[in-house]
Amino acid sequence: MDINWEEIHQHAIAAMKKAYAPYSNFPVGVAALVNDGRIVEGCNVENASYGVGLCAECGLVSNLATSGGGKLIAIVCVGGDSNFLAPCGRCRQLLFEHGGPEALLMTPEGPQKMSAMLPWAFGPEDLK
Ligand code: THU
Repeated sequence: MDINWEEIHQHAIAAMKKAYAPYSNFPVGVAALVNDGRIVEGCNVENASYGVGLCAECGLVSNLATSGGGKLIAIVCVGGDSNFLAPCGRCRQLLFEHGGPEALLMTPEGPQKMSAMLPWAFGPEDLK
């Protein structure tokens, strides 16, 4: 499948602009191409009880499920400056679950496989 990274990046920026991040003032947006061609998005949603805030990737995987499921093919995560942002460890686990080792994550060094972003990952295969 052709990957239009610029289009995914623009979706990530649009999602970042919807972030609810009044405590950290650190908006995050993420967008991903799904294997059926649609693009799903997520933004961080914080909470007065700081520890229960949701990362942008949580919203993305929820939107993936509610909009029909499927597999993540290509992912872009951005911070408030619109530049590529490294997903936190927990979020790499979320992305790995729904993209698998071959899913691509955009980095300042170009697209990287999830297997490189989360080496020796624990995943669905381990439960078989
Ligand atoms: N954040 C994300 O949304 N995703 C990440 O992968 C890294 C961190 C959010 C959580 C919090 O709302 C803010 O960025 C500052 O940590």
